[in-house]
Amino acid sequence: MTPKILIIGACGQIGSELTLALRSLYGNEQVIASDIRAGNEELMQSGSFEILDATDKTAIASCVRKHKITDVYLMAAMLSATAEKYPDKAWSLNMNSLFHVLDLAKDKEIQKIFWPSSIAVFGPTTPKQNTPQRTIMEPSTVYGISKLAGERWCEYYYKNYGVDVRSIRYPGLISWKTSPGGGTTDYAIEIYHKALQQGSYECFLNKDTRLPMMYMEDAIRATIAIMQAAEDTIRVRSSYNLAAISFDPEEITETIREHIPDFSISYAPDFRQKIADTWPHSIDDTNSREDWGWQPQYDLKTITADMLSNLESLV
Ligand code: SER
Repeated sequence: MTPKILIIGACGQIGSELTLALRSLYGNEQVIASDIRAGNEELMQSGSFEILDATDKTAIASCVRKHKITDVYLMAAMLSATAEKYPDKAWSLNMNSLFHVLDLAKDKEIQKIFWPSSIAVFGPTTPKQNTPQRTIMEPSTVYGISKLAGERWCEYYYKNYGVDVRSIRYPGLISWKTSPGGGTTDYAIEIYHKALQQGSYECFLNKDTRLPMMYMEDAIRATIAIMQAAEDTIRVRSSYNLAAISFDPEEITETIREHIPDFSISYAPDFRQKIADTWPHSIDDTNSREDWGWQPQYDLKTITADMLSNLESLV
């Protein structure tokens, strides 16, 4: 059966690309985009759009009934850097929206949920290299705490109410179509914009801050793959580790210099350094590879080439 999909947070960095990918896969009429504000032209014109507040349970429920939704992708969230500034708002958005959607599935109003988690669920006491699926998890950011709590609730709803919820711990995501919103890994996008605009970049993380990262194409493929996998292959019902590459600002700079030899970088770490210091350097994603066949395609060189040529074509 073809799913009827609602994407909540469809205008964000991931949601905007996910919406288009799902529309081309299942047909425009099968995918309803929603957000608290309108998105870009391509998104708005390729299918139905609803203004929807992710914290408004009644509004989500009536949207689900109106469109006979089967699957919900809950992409609305406040990311790590912004969440440190607005802890209450972050907790309320990240948790309430999840409960609303989990409860709709518990009440059999929808059949399947995708909910993104993050490498932010790990903390300063977590082993940093090849961080395993199951390990010490003591996140010290508001965002990380909300994602870890969310993971526990997803597993709880699966075990106790049979809710088919699937989740990925995304690494930092690099993309050019829609700007990211308030993350610690956003430097790895800003750097390409500044390299093209002014040939230099002041980085808010130190030069040796190594973090797990991924290109948006890979992240979208992973999201669709986990949602299409047979139900019994999804054995992790909290959230799956997912990896592609790891690098630090110095390494990304080197790949940019292969295209823009005079590109220069300086370092002025701010409060986001403290967040990045608590996260893993690299991730062991064996479970994703074994359970639903995950395999990344983009390395740092191919990401840099693709980012620069796409951003260049926009100007
Ligand atoms: N990219 C996110 C952030 O930096 C991590 O999930 O907040």
